[in-house]
Amino acid sequence: MHSSENATSLKDRNIKGNIAEVKTTSANVEFVILPYYKTLEEIPDKNNLFNQLNDFISRTNEHSTIAILTSSIFASDFCTQLKNDAHLKLWIAVKLTNPIERKNYLTERHSALLIITRYKESLNHTKTRIGYTYCPYCDKTTKDYGGKKHLYHEFGTLMSDVWRDITVDFESYPSEVVNRLCDLFGLPQYKFVNVYDQREFYKPTNKKHSFRNIPETENIFSEKSRLLNGDCIAQLKKIPDNSIDFCFADPPYNLNKKYESWNDGINIQKYFEWCDQWLSELARVLKPGRTLAVLNIPQWCVRHFKHLNTILDYQDWIVWEGLSMPVRMIMPSHYSILCFSKGKPKPLPALARNQNTPFEKKAIETQLENYCIRANCITLRKRLKINDSEIASNIWWDIHRLKHNSRRVDHPCQLPPMFMYRLISLFTNENEFVLDPFNGAGTTTLTAQQLNRKYVGIELSEYYHNITSQRHNELSSGLNPFRKINDEKPKAKNSRVERLKKQKYEVSKKVLQLEIKNISKQLGHIPTKDEVTRHSKFPIEYFENYFISWGEATAAARTTGMSEAKKADNEIYQLPGIQLSFIMERTKSYLKKSDIKSKTALKNV
Ligand SMILES: C[S@@+](CC[C@H](N)C(=O)[O-])C[C@H]1O[C@@H](n2cnc3c(N)ncnc32)[C@H](O)[C@@H]1O
Repeated sequence: MHSSENATSLKDRNIKGNIAEVKTTSANVEFVILPYYKTLEEIPDKNNLFNQLNDFISRTNEHSTIAILTSSIFASDFCTQLKNDAHLKLWIAVKLTNPIERKNYLTERHSALLIITRYKESLNHTKTRIGYTYCPYCDKTTKDYGGKKHLYHEFGTLMSDVWRDITVDFESYPSEVVNRLCDLFGLPQYKFVNVYDQREFYKPTNKKHSFRNIPETENIFSEKSRLLNGDCIAQLKKIPDNSIDFCFADPPYNLNKKYESWNDGINIQKYFEWCDQWLSELARVLKPGRTLAVLNIPQWCVRHFKHLNTILDYQDWIVWEGLSMPVRMIMPSHYSILCFSKGKPKPLPALARNQNTPFEKKAIETQLENYCIRANCITLRKRLKINDSEIASNIWWDIHRLKHNSRRVDHPCQLPPMFMYRLISLFTNENEFVLDPFNGAGTTTLTAQQLNRKYVGIELSEYYHNITSQRHNELSSGLNPFRKINDEKPKAKNSRVERLKKQKYEVSKKVLQLEIKNISKQLGHIPTKDEVTRHSKFPIEYFENYFISWGEATAAARTTGMSEAKKADNEIYQLPGIQLSFIMERTKSYLKKSDIKSKTALKNV
């Protein structure tokens, strides 16, 4: 369930006919539903369909928002051919009602909802929250909010670009998605969500994908694991063809991150030409049937898709919801792991081997959604033999980016070790070779060593290379390289916000934030610094010195505060009655109008 602030819910209406023929004039939300194509070959007359879609986008009002619901493979290929007047604003992964089980591979669990605009500026949408979910065992919120409950809203957290609380069934009307679009874009400039259901017009063909014919030759790279310091393209050239079992790349994203010896803000065209070069090298050194995985933001993965699709075979689009929650109005919080195989993929090692070690098992399993992560609840569930886990699908939501300084070394964007444990356990067997051309602080090679895999890690910066070598020495001498280190040394970080010096607080920050909240209640508005000086029992210096900004100091005053305990049903935050009955009416009228027999849509309301 979601709730949108200050939204005037839009009306949805079905527009009959093919998008090739429809005309749109006023600014609205234009929602195109396409089939869920499993391969590119299933798309009937692909070029024609891409042209129709591009023309349709060009004909929409320049203030409209266009949403396209389909499969990830279609979305990736289409995005590579978007015309210049269209801007891909968001790639939203929406959970499938009926996950697609694939023998010897990860279960396919998400569809793609592309949000495209013709305007360049940032996306206009309402501030929308997703309601908290509660652990079926302890009845508390799924996430543990610790001492920060006063900073969260009573209804839920801001919406991310992975929608796991609703699902879409490609055999029926996606009413949950329609309802959400009506509220998410319930802005004064729009009236309608125009729904163009195109599934009848562009039914999937039954053509099968034919894999590239790759000779089964394999070569030996080295007996030993290696850490190489230098440029990845130059180093990769020294590695023989068909000699690596798994290639993983976490490249610089060209998003102005503060690396030690790399300009992370070059011209985008040049950036992608450079990416194509190392991707081609990785494809060359990869063994037949094995996987190359690239981690990047969805918009960049689309461009990697374009190149990789010319040299390898598409295997998967894994969605990694890496932030524990979205932090701003804009919702992007996921990364994509684009997987391509060299010819027909071999069965996924983790699923094909007879037994996984306890380490591998832990890495490839994920908790069932909604079970909470509180240590005492997990222990109790284990004791009571409650089955609360399953093999990870292709949406990963349970691994979060490293935030605590004590878990990081001096590198701005290290991956969490669990992320690499999962990838390496899934895609390789013991003693196989893992290669990372952007090894950074060594997360890939260190986790590979811990899992008894061999590794090649390439890193341009001598500084990071040395950090990694030292961490490998620690590991070889029995120390955990991912242990907590409270050395108080400031570490490289990405955020532009400067760090405050570590200091002893006379009064906790929470007490100060709640003090401002009280003052705000008395005054009826968020207080200024002067007002806090006048009304607070604490010296203004505390507020000035303990917080990075006035925004942080007043954060509790701007929200309601939340409780982790599940409320009785009659206390749970409800959508306003009018909004709820409106949604019911809308779905009923659609079902009456259309001849869809399934009543799933109604059930979903
Ligand atoms: C996103 S970081 C990788 C972080 C790594 N996954 C970790 O967990 O520590 C990208 C790394 O690529 C390195 N790099 C940039 N250009 C490179 C190049 N041409 N060859 C090799 N490494 C490069 C940067 O110095 C940076 O450490």
